[in-house]
Amino acid sequence: MVNLKWKGKEDNKEIHLKKFTTPPFHVLDNYLPKDFGIKSGERWQNLLFLGENQALMNSLLNTLENKISLIYIDPPFATGGDFNLKIQIGEEGKYIDDIAYKDKWEEGLDSYLSFLYQRLVKMKRLLSHKGSIYVHLDWHISHYVKVILDEIFGIENFRNEIIWAYPAASAKTRRFFIRSYDTILFYSKSDNYVFNDDPNIYMEYSNRVKNALKKDEQGIFYYRGGSHNGKKLSRKVYVVQEGIFPRDVWNDIPYIRANTSEYQGFSTQKPERLLKRIILASTNEKDLIADFFCGSGTTLAVAEKLGRHWIGCDINSHAIHISRKRILNINNSNDIMNWKKKYNKKAHPFKIISFKKEFETNLISKEFLNKTAQIVPVSLIHGSQDLSVQIHQNYNSIIIELTNYKISFLDSVSRKIRDKITSFSDWIDYWAIDYDFKNDIFNIMWNSFRTPKNRELELKSKSYLYKKPGKYKLSIKIIDIFGIETQKTYEITI
Ligand SMILES: C[S@@+](CC[C@H](N)C(=O)[O-])C[C@H]1O[C@@H](n2cnc3c(N)ncnc32)[C@H](O)[C@@H]1O
Repeated sequence: MVNLKWKGKEDNKEIHLKKFTTPPFHVLDNYLPKDFGIKSGERWQNLLFLGENQALMNSLLNTLENKISLIYIDPPFATGGDFNLKIQIGEEGKYIDDIAYKDKWEEGLDSYLSFLYQRLVKMKRLLSHKGSIYVHLDWHISHYVKVILDEIFGIENFRNEIIWAYPAASAKTRRFFIRSYDTILFYSKSDNYVFNDDPNIYMEYSNRVKNALKKDEQGIFYYRGGSHNGKKLSRKVYVVQEGIFPRDVWNDIPYIRANTSEYQGFSTQKPERLLKRIILASTNEKDLIADFFCGSGTTLAVAEKLGRHWIGCDINSHAIHISRKRILNINNSNDIMNWKKKYNKKAHPFKIISFKKEFETNLISKEFLNKTAQIVPVSLIHGSQDLSVQIHQNYNSIIIELTNYKISFLDSVSRKIRDKITSFSDWIDYWAIDYDFKNDIFNIMWNSFRTPKNRELELKSKSYLYKKPGKYKLSIKIIDIFGIETQKTYEITI
């Protein structure tokens, strides 16, 4: 067996065996719509984790070892570059660019390989016996990672090297051929793995076949062809299915464009149709799917629409925020089984969790600050923004109105951003209300937020009717354009 060696690999030997201890989770948000409930026997609640994925995996190994049916990851590709994300401001098309994540590895390839190796070993432990993993990479690193996957999963469990080919933007270089595909490495945990021959994963017929198709008297398509003993025939060959069983070169799925409804403003966002094929092929309904580098939440959105359970994780709070809005707004997105229709269903219950420590050290990106203020103290970020609201109460009915929002470190914010703000609401990206805040867990009961296509924010909530008189805690949560969360809680008597 050939194994890849690099500096630092041996330091990771024990991770194949170890049990891990992790600090307790803190629930940032809970989405538990009343009409859904969590039916008895269906206790699973989907999970979005803000933080380092290794920490999450360590924790999941205590409860979900051998339980996850599919893992799709689209990790950094060791490109040496930074990847952007557009932060939109207000309603008039203004935006600022932020770095979504850095893909620079100070100790080069060795440190990248150690990073991925440690995590892949844990992913294998989390996968169920019939489970599969898809690792999305490109020419930078896929050849090394394939050797590592052979070592971890066994060369006999290699299934495909999928080439996702897309038309590349024209490149300046004339020194080599233009690179225009990504590689997705597909391994199963064992030989007895789920793989569905589902017509919904089929590829379209080539134009040559489509042009040659004719309809017979009963409206069934056929083409003239076939062969016998090496001789070409021209008999009718009936086409019984829509498309062909997929090959390992996928050239029928376009890259995301900024003008599509799917676009979330995340530069490395992958198309939902790519995940549809993977999820339908490798899982069944209610199976659990994880994406430990979830970015804008593509895997989670497709899993949700296809009735699978999901776990998503990202270290970047903007990525988690984009995913949160994407799932909350899923009813307005395209139906994955019929792209021309709206999905029109609300998301299943999910919660957003983090380790308290990671949530608290989430700082403001340097690009947003003026040159003299390179850093904003944590004490000025968390809990110290000035939020004003008006509570309009009429007997048992409540309407909340946002009336002002000021950030505490305004002097440190760059001119470039301040000039784009014309009203207090331009700072705000999202807000939500929990009318009955209990046990320190914020239940999203009403919300309004801006999306890339719908920039409007409602500043007044719909009226909410309390069913029983009594004292309640009403909590309001704001997320601003920097991703800072501010929560204020009020006591009300009904
Ligand atoms: C290529 S993007 C994923 C894009 C995603 N597939 C989509 O469709 O939007 C990689 C993501 O991995 C996240 N990431 C990088 N290192 C991480 C880590 N150690 N733990 C959790 N997330 C990480 C980055 O913040 C980034 O959002």
